[in-house]
Formats: sequence, C-alpha cells, structure tokens
Amino acid sequence: MSSVELETPQGKYSQPTGLFINNEFVKAVDGKTFETINPSNEKPIVAVAEATEKDVDIAVNAARKAFEGEWRKVTPEDRAKYLSNLANLMEKHLDTLAAIESLDNGKAFSMAKFDVSMAARCLRYYGGWADKIEGKVVDTSPDTFNYVKKEPIGVCGQIIPWNFPILMWSWKIGPAIACGNTVVIKTAEQTPLSGLYAAQLVKEAGFPPGVINVISGFGKTAGAAIASHMNIDKVAFTGSTVTGRSILKAAAGSNLKKVTLELGGKSPNIVFNDADIDNAISWVNFGIFFNHGQCCCAGSRIYVQEGIYEKFIERFRQRAQKNVVGDPFASDTFQGPQVSQLQFDRIMGYIDAGKKEGAKVEIGGERKGNNGYFIEPTIFSNVTEDMKIMQEEIFGPVCSISKFSTKEDAIRLGNTTTYGLAAAVHTTNLNTAIEVSNALRAGTVWVNTYNTLHHQLPFGGFKESGIGRELGEAALDNYTQLKTVNIRLGDALFG
Ligand code: NAI
Ligand code: MG
Repeated sequence: MSSVELETPQGKYSQPTGLFINNEFVKAVDGKTFETINPSNEKPIVAVAEATEKDVDIAVNAARKAFEGEWRKVTPEDRAKYLSNLANLMEKHLDTLAAIESLDNGKAFSMAKFDVSMAARCLRYYGGWADKIEGKVVDTSPDTFNYVKKEPIGVCGQIIPWNFPILMWSWKIGPAIACGNTVVIKTAEQTPLSGLYAAQLVKEAGFPPGVINVISGFGKTAGAAIASHMNIDKVAFTGSTVTGRSILKAAAGSNLKKVTLELGGKSPNIVFNDADIDNAISWVNFGIFFNHGQCCCAGSRIYVQEGIYEKFIERFRQRAQKNVVGDPFASDTFQGPQVSQLQFDRIMGYIDAGKKEGAKVEIGGERKGNNGYFIEPTIFSNVTEDMKIMQEEIFGPVCSISKFSTKEDAIRLGNTTTYGLAAAVHTTNLNTAIEVSNALRAGTVWVNTYNTLHHQLPFGGFKESGIGRELGEAALDNYTQLKTVNIRLGDALFG
C-alpha cells in the first residue's frame, strides 16, 4: 500500500498508511480505512488502513511463523544489534517522528522531540539486555542436574494508547524483542501515524519479516480480537482501567494468555510546609500540566500543608498562568490541544462537575479559542474528597488542591483512591520523605520531583492501576517464562 506525502511545519515527509505485516505495508483485507484527526484544527490528516479481526489473524500468523522459524535462529547478540539499529534510526528521524507526534496527537513539538529521544534510548537499553538474559543452575542432589532457563513467551499482542504514541510503542517493543518474542502491536485509533512511520525503520534495522507487526485499528474490533486471540501468548496493554478489565476477561475467556496492564491513576502530589516552595511549585505545575494532563501518572490531587496553603495557591496560580497554550509547533508552546473531541468533552464535563459541586475555580475552567481541542490550565481549590473531580481520572489539564494538617493526614489522603500508580512528596526533611514514601501505596513515589520516568526504573501500578511492571529489568519478567530442566544422573529411583 502506498504512502502519502504530508506536510508539517517541519517540512514534507512520506507517511506510510498500510498495515505493517511481514515487513510490508499492506491494505486491510476488507479495504477499510479510517481518518486520523489533527487535534489542533479538528481536520482529518490522512486515512490509514483499518485492521479488523481478519487482519489481526494475518498479523498473528506472521508473528507465529517468525517465532517458530527464523527468529529462533537469531542470536541474542543480533537481537541486540537490531534494537540498537532501530534506536539509531529513530534518532536519525527524530525531527520527523516528533513532527508526526505533534501533528497527530497535538503535543508540543519540543516535548515530542523528548518523547522520540526517550523512545530510542529505551530500545537501545533493551538491546543491551538481549544478551544478558540468563538462567541458573540449581543443585538439589548429587544424582540430579537442574537448570532453569528463561524462554520467550511467544507471540505478544500489544495495545497502546494515544498519549505517548511512539514512547509506548518502544516501551512495549523493546523488552518483548530483547527476550526473543515476536509482536503484533496495535496503535491507538487517535494516533496511528508515528507507529507506522517507525515500522518502516524496523525493516531498515534488519529485523526479519513477521517479528514486529504494526497495525492500526479500533479497540472494539482489532483490540478485542488481540485480547481474545487463541494464538497470542501474551497481551500487554496501556490505557483505561475499564478497557484493562475487558482485556483481562477476554484473556480469561480465551486461552488464558498472560496479561500485563498499565492503567489509570489519580496520583497525589503532597507538599509539606518545609518544602522548597519554588521547586515544589515548578514540579507540581509540571506534574499536572505536562502533556496537557494526559498522563496516567499525572499529579492531579494536590495536597498542601496548612501552613503554606494560601501562599502556595497564589504562587501556583501565577506559575500555571505562564504555561503557554497554543499551536504545538510554536517554539514557546508548553500545552497543545487535547487529543480528540471525545477527550475534550470528557474533560469539560469534569470541569462542569467541579463547578456544580462547589469547588472554586482558581484559574482556567474554560475552553481556549474556538478551533481545536484547547482547554485552559485549570486549578480547583475548596475541593472535598467525595467530589467527582477528586476521585476520578480526568486526563486533562485540571487539578484539585486541598489542605492537610499532619503527616498522618497526608498519608491517609494520599491513599484514598482505588488507584496506586504514582505519588509525590515535597519536603526538605529526609525523615518525612522516607516515612511518607514508605506509606504511600503507589508503584512510583517521587520526592521533590515529578514525572521523571527513566527507562532503567520499573514503572507500574499498585491496586487498580495495573498488573506487572514496565521498564527496567523488571519488564523482562513479563516477556520471559521459566523452564525447569531436571536431569537424572544416577540409577533409576524406583528400581
Ligand atoms: P482506552 O483504554 O479505551 O484505549 C486505549 C487503547 O486500547 C487503544 O489502543 C484502544 O484502541 C484500545 N482498546 C479500546 N477498547 C478496547 C477493547 N475492548 N479491547 C482491546 N483494546 C481496546 O482509552 P480511551 O478511550 O482512549 O481513553 C479513555 C480514558 O482512558 C482516558 O480519559 C484516560 O482516563 C484513560 N487512559 C489512560 C491511559 C494511560 O496511559 N494509562 C492512556 C489513554 C487513556
Ligand atoms: Mg490524530
């Protein structure tokens, strides 16, 4: 299937639009396509192939054939080389990939460049692991020899969201490939373009056909087909808790494929009286407004100790008002549009709910402009724990601030939701930092920082925020299974 020439403020480029299966771009079996929208102006960018169940089958067969065939013969050292080649190619195409992210997702170009760089570095990091995945010998008796191998799981179905399209692509592909699996990855219907662009680099990096297959399509069709597929051995998902539950059910109802889930959050960002206030405000601002609030780990519940509460709100208002909202390609833009009409409507619905429930709008609370899905950075104060805006994930540039008095209160409030993805503590007291970090039920706790993820550090959720960990050495556990080999050396045991 052909590619289409597109233009961004960064220049012209050639955008593949087919499904990437067996190292070729192909049409969907039914010839279906769908349009992806530019959230900055609400206009269609281009139509791409839409995978349905039949296309998922074809991609899974390709991945299975590669897994049972050529990929098995590839040495760990060569897996490392391909991942490293792919990382290098992504860096070579960094500006184009970043421009595609800004076009399709609406994120600021400066931030998108950072995403692409992180994506490349993540692939390189997992390339480094490929030849260091080792088993062990276990001694149980003199007449037995036992070893435990780490083997790949097989064909992995991977379903990713739209908030960090290329970064999630590489978080998923990196560890799966390092461990010797093959992949069918479905991008989000809102943001199919960067994953397809990167797919052509997969071929150039030297991967054999069928090892990495990239398909575009919708959740209820292509996504659901992956989750219930009888020939997929493992599914990895990032997205909403509701969809995560349906994937777990689909796995249970089909072949009991292994499941890892990275889901939502409603993360507390706790500021103590003794915090370095300038530093805290800067990270609180970045914690909620980075990526337009479209982060699973967004610091959306801000708890400030009573001694600095008034001062903090005033200073935070001033800081947030400086966040430039507008054209993702403008050099000073910090916040672009929300990704879609649906997300825009959801967020505006939450803002209305906050107003109706009696929270005070400190700044924002309105749409920005009348073209594109732009929303003003919004801070609510006078928020109580039972309010919808304090309990549910908003996934937009909206946060709630409330007051606490003691350390015990901060811990209790921090742990009140059903989520447990991330949390942060701002304090200059080491004891407070450690005591509160230990007590918070979250997969990541930041101290005097926020959103500072790194590919070497495990990331994932406590409670309803997920199952399993991505990144770091921990992600390798999701993509390997243990095989115990027990060899009898002595005489027959039972004569
Ligand atoms: P979603 O969870 O429905 O979509 C994420 C991915 O799952 C997409 O690729 C989608 O096509 C796929 N999907 C949807 N339904 C599926 C199904 N039944 N079976 C298999 N795959 C399916 O999220 P959506 O609707 O885009 O956003 C809704 C909310 O989810 C957001 O407001 C936010 O709260 C949360 N979310 C969280 C993310 C995170 O990073 N944890 C990312 C995106 C959304
Ligand atoms: Mg789009």
